[in-house]
Amino acid sequence: MDTVGDIAGLRTALDVQRHRKIGLVPTMGNLHAGHMALVRECRRACDICVVSIFVNPTQFGPNEDFGSYPRTLAEDLRLLKAAGTDFVFNPSVDTMYPAGQEDHVSVSVPSLAHTLCGEARPGHFDGVATVVAKLFNIVAPHEAFLGEKDWQQLTLIRTMVRQLDMPLWVTGVPTVREASGLAMSSRNNYLSDEERQRAALINRILNGIKTGIERGDHDYEAAEARGRQKLAAAGFDVDYVAVRDAGRLVPPDADTNRLRILAAARLGRARLIDNVGVAL
Ligand code: PAF
Repeated sequence: MDTVGDIAGLRTALDVQRHRKIGLVPTMGNLHAGHMALVRECRRACDICVVSIFVNPTQFGPNEDFGSYPRTLAEDLRLLKAAGTDFVFNPSVDTMYPAGQEDHVSVSVPSLAHTLCGEARPGHFDGVATVVAKLFNIVAPHEAFLGEKDWQQLTLIRTMVRQLDMPLWVTGVPTVREASGLAMSSRNNYLSDEERQRAALINRILNGIKTGIERGDHDYEAAEARGRQKLAAAGFDVDYVAVRDAGRLVPPDADTNRLRILAAARLGRARLIDNVGVAL
């Protein structure tokens, strides 16, 4: 496994592999079982597996946790090597934003960037789209692997790829969960043991709404309100519980044939997100 920090070095290394299928797993490091499922899928589907580790400052708001975001490079490299990764791209902030962050070109997906998590985190998805577009241009993978846990991010990246005619396939990999149902996330590290147990309520509520819909309850707004109340009563600071069209993330309408039920809530220091799918 080669670890490369500069763009030219990575391109040179990948140039001689262009006849093979190249996969990219974009990450911000602090790898857990969810990331390793992406790497496994990349290994299975591609000949060459590139993992990027970059804590991207432009997707963090001014009062968010960029400074304290867990950085565990040595352990990440150990896990990636054991998993059969070929290349790790681990650039510095200056490498990715040589002209500074303010004056950098920004990629925006307006139809998806301002709803749900975009309301609570203004600018977040422009930062995500910009850095992922850069990573796609740098690595030029045939396929990229992203977790379904960040459903809005996955949907937005797919939309960016489609609308900007980027020549790659984006594969979503199902969420990996703890035994309690809690979705794996680097931000789970911010939870105390007691909060970690309580955090599993998010997934139980989403599954409860899913079961209701499957049994024929289509009063989505009432289900959302009940979900928000349950989370608030358990001490969560709720951003949203929402039943949306899975592809467009708008409230379900006559064109909807797949739903996604999504939630975001803060517990202690952690902002947690989760989602489940329902076919109609
Ligand atoms: O999901 C993440 O870890 C990040 O948002 C990503 C896709 C690596 C972009 O920085």
